[in-house]
Amino acid sequence: MTRLVHLTDLHFGLERDDLIAPLRRAITTCLPDFVVVSGDLTHRARHGQFQRAMAFLHGLGLPFLVIPGNHDVPLFNVAARIFAPFRSYRAGASPDLAPVAEVGPLRLYGTNTADPWRWRRGRLRRAEIDRILRTARAAPPGAINILVCHHPLEEPPGFDRGETRGARGALPALAEAGIRIVLSGHLHHWSIGLGIGPDRPRPLFQLQAGTALCAREDERDHGFAVLDVEGPLLTVTPWIHDGVAGAFTERPQQAFSFHDGLWHSSARTGGG
Ligand SMILES: [Fe+2]
Ligand SMILES: [Fe+2]
Repeated sequence: MTRLVHLTDLHFGLERDDLIAPLRRAITTCLPDFVVVSGDLTHRARHGQFQRAMAFLHGLGLPFLVIPGNHDVPLFNVAARIFAPFRSYRAGASPDLAPVAEVGPLRLYGTNTADPWRWRRGRLRRAEIDRILRTARAAPPGAINILVCHHPLEEPPGFDRGETRGARGALPALAEAGIRIVLSGHLHHWSIGLGIGPDRPRPLFQLQAGTALCAREDERDHGFAVLDVEGPLLTVTPWIHDGVAGAFTERPQQAFSFHDGLWHSSARTGGG
């Protein structure tokens, strides 16, 4: 079994300070093989914010991969946003905007969907789609291909905002090339296995995790997801902050299996 933690939207600079230590404790308790961070490491792409975000991630003592979100691009400094949108991200977080990692049978492909011209909204660029398709097709048999992006490729009900240009049309080709799982954030809203339901299988498993730390007033369900992958089986366990306990706690686990080219939902398997 391979265990991933999916963490997103840390928003250092506008973070819930009181959640930082409990978040660190909960993630390390899960003993993941790898941590995926799908963007918005910072709130305003400032040097000190990147420093704190990366100090938190390195402090976990676990291997991890990061990609940029729209908040990792300057908003108010228009010249920087247009002419050097990822300079502060490259300097403060990672020079690589499209990192790749292998974790057991998992192949993780990060892509950068932040679009400095539209700032909040995202874009899945044609060249990136082609690169992902090529890489996924070249993966060895038995590999489980996972795409990591900040903006959702498909929005859950109630979010019909056309948030990610170029994404929806690419979904069939991504599935055909062997992408099995897509991890994203940005909406600060949980959606596990988007569109997959009893008797409603789908070729792509999409997980949109809520924000881990953002301190905006209307934020709720701060947390992260634990994914356990074993052959064709996938379970997802959200860990959500419990204000009374002052800790992140396990919520009911959801189970899925991949067969005949499609993800199927299984009965809930319990969990904490
Ligand atoms: Fe965010
Ligand atoms: Fe975002």
